[in-house]
Amino acid sequence: ISRNFSISTLTRAAIKNVTVVGGGLMGSGIAQISAQSGHNVTIVELNQEVLDKTHKNIQQSLQRVAKKVYKEKPQEGENFVSESLSRISTSTNLADVVQNSDLVLEAIVENLSIKHKLFKSIDDIAPEKTIFASNTSSLSIGEIAAVCKRKDKFAGLHFFNPVPVMKLLEVVRTPETSDETYEKLMAWAKAIGKTAITCKDTPGFVVNRLLVPLMAEAIRMLERGDASPRDIDIAMKLGAGHPMGPIELADYVGHDTNNSIINGWHEKFPENPLFNPLPFLQKLVDEKNWVSRLVKDIIVTR
Ligand code: CAA
Ligand code: NAD
Repeated sequence: ISRNFSISTLTRAAIKNVTVVGGGLMGSGIAQISAQSGHNVTIVELNQEVLDKTHKNIQQSLQRVAKKVYKEKPQEGENFVSESLSRISTSTNLADVVQNSDLVLEAIVENLSIKHKLFKSIDDIAPEKTIFASNTSSLSIGEIAAVCKRKDKFAGLHFFNPVPVMKLLEVVRTPETSDETYEKLMAWAKAIGKTAITCKDTPGFVVNRLLVPLMAEAIRMLERGDASPRDIDIAMKLGAGHPMGPIELADYVGHDTNNSIINGWHEKFPENPLFNPLPFLQKLVDEKNWVSRLVKDIIVTR
């Protein structure tokens, strides 16, 4: 972590104050890496109870990073954790905190009308310069931005789980995202230590457009009994160099998430066979304990 580099670069950067809306799995990771790279972060959640949980999760994750990066220098590790935490504040009042925000990044529930409600509530009150972004996995950035006037200052910023570990950030441009917004976001991606790729606003962007059909095809293989779950995963790890096999990855991402992504895309693009619904996946969702047991078995026996 090149802390000094990041912080001196930050004095010239356009994005210094970041508001992360949603402090769940993704939002807490995004807030963590923003703070540890020197940005001021405010996390907005529905209530204080969730915020307390988010804060605890971030603290634990920072300690994990410190243990690794400052292995030989525990005091510096402790400073890293406390300094990073000191840059994070929390709130339940989005309208208040956007006043001082260069970037509002939402990582709330994957639901278009809830995301609309959020952005609509701040479009008129946020400063003109403030950029809005969504971490959606599967919705169209243009459709989310449709309720806002600042379409030139709206983009997708798609992170990957686990955020502190996965090095990629997809920067998604709609036809209306301005060059200035795009360049500010690319500079921010670099400042938080991610490698950014640029992509258009198409279903699943780049990674999920490839990963979701891969996981779906693995589920179809499972249904047909072509190979055991363990062998499907071993095959993709040892034969294609993937860190996780598609069955374990599908469980990691969440079968319910995959199922709703596929069903949502099918509804919008019924002609694309890659997005055909999977009745077997629906069954896995309904019997989720069974799948988790199956994945435990894969992990134990790999
Ligand atoms: N915070 C901080 N550090 C973490 C961490 C966390 N939450 N989770 C793991 N790490 C660190 C560990 O400390 C470890 O560091 P060292 O190797 O330096 O000791 C390193 O990451 C690897 O972790 P582990 O040894 O525990 O486990 P692993 O080697 O099996 O790796 C993994 C775990 C990184 C998750 C790896 O299995 C992997 O890359 N899996 C694929 C993940 C993936 O594809 N994610 C994308 C999903 S799709 C998505 O997110 C988009 C969407 O829209 C749904
Ligand atoms: P999560 O359920 O872990 O967290 C969502 C959080 O948002 C919850 O803590 C909830 O209380 C909060 N929230 C809901 N409505 C809110 C509102 N109006 N204001 C403030 N907070 C609100 O979900 P997650 O897995 O972190 O996913 C969040 C977003 O990121 C989704 O759009 C998802 O598609 C996307 N995403 C998820 C992954 C993944 O692997 N889980 C990867 C990339 C992108």
